[in-house]
Amino acid sequence: ERALRVAVLGCGTVGTEVVRLLREQATDLTARSGARLELVGIAVRDTSVPRDPVVDPALLTTDAAGLVRRADLVVELMGGIEPARTLVLDALAAGASVVTANKALLAAHGPELYEAAEGRGVDLYFEAAVAGAVPVVRGVRESFAGDRVNRVLGVVNGTTNYILDEMTSRGVGFDEALADAQALGYAEADPTADIDGHDAAAKIAILASLAFHTRVSIDDVPVEGIRHVTADDVEAARRGHHVIKLLAVAERRTTAGGEGIAVRVHPTLLPTAHPLAAVRGAYNAVVLDTEAAGRLMFYGQGAGGAPTASAVLGDVVAAARNRVSGGRGPAESRYAQLPLLGGDQVTTQF
Ligand code: NAP
Ligand code: HSE
Repeated sequence: ERALRVAVLGCGTVGTEVVRLLREQATDLTARSGARLELVGIAVRDTSVPRDPVVDPALLTTDAAGLVRRADLVVELMGGIEPARTLVLDALAAGASVVTANKALLAAHGPELYEAAEGRGVDLYFEAAVAGAVPVVRGVRESFAGDRVNRVLGVVNGTTNYILDEMTSRGVGFDEALADAQALGYAEADPTADIDGHDAAAKIAILASLAFHTRVSIDDVPVEGIRHVTADDVEAARRGHHVIKLLAVAERRTTAGGEGIAVRVHPTLLPTAHPLAAVRGAYNAVVLDTEAAGRLMFYGQGAGGAPTASAVLGDVVAAARNRVSGGRGPAESRYAQLPLLGGDQVTTQF
């Protein structure tokens, strides 16, 4: 039986659940991948931190670089830009397949990483980087490769949606709702990335790059978060049969200068009858408008350890299967030169 050596970088909210699935679903994962997935190590910052019993302490290491050198498949779940970027580049350069949930990294350095994977002929998968368990990356990248996407719009941050929903439905204060979102494992290590909209901006940059076959970086996305949304704002919206949602939008726009892409993240007032108003808690929803298929909506759990681990393991199986069968995942988009328009150009009508 063939074995693939798997290294997991990070053993926090998501990493722990990935380790659990690797262990508990081992038989099924072997059957679906065509190879036994042998967990050879788990990189952390501090090996003395108490861990979930599912984590074998003997596998923990602070030597992430050394661990990467021993792996066929690297699962990056530590977050942040460095050392994640260098570790992912090292893994790809060594011919390992990489699965990551790190949207901040992809939105800032995606092209460098995609090119490294392409140049080495290995997979770089990142389904969990956008909308947790919701298969929107695969959907946009593969299912509509033969169509033309005109707009991507949605609720792509679970933490802010949870906070706004708790404020609306239960009258919970902002700080208490944020503390709950952190305790439930929805928030980023630094929750200002969620609250100030940067996490949503990273996700819409990734989706826009895939949907429009162009390069959109997080720095191209005008952002307004929910820090200034008050209990009075939420109550006024509720009384008027509206809800406040943090929306991320990317769309093609035709201007006097030709076609371009407008992208933006901002809080939006939606009527309660609007389909996105029904997105509760840490759920996410992404609406695609395409030329041939028309309108589609992807919906499901957008944050949390187990839902995110589900998406990570889906990628692990796909990457493992490709290694075993010699196949490859989809190529990254060939970049067109679509100009980026101002974020004030987007429309959120639906
Ligand atoms: P987390 O709970 O903060 O865990 C991060 C883990 O990475 C910890 O185990 C930490 O080690 C380890 N780590 C951090 N820096 C390291 C370094 N320099 N060297 C070695 N280990 C290091 O984060 P998380 O919520 O699991 O998120 C992980 C990634 O998934 C992030 O990119 C995040 O954006 C993404 N993501 C998260 C969710 C979610 O719902 N939480 C959903 C989708 C995507 P210690 O334990 O020793 O501190
Ligand atoms: N902090 C992120 C969120 C995790 O709340 O959506 C999922 O990407």
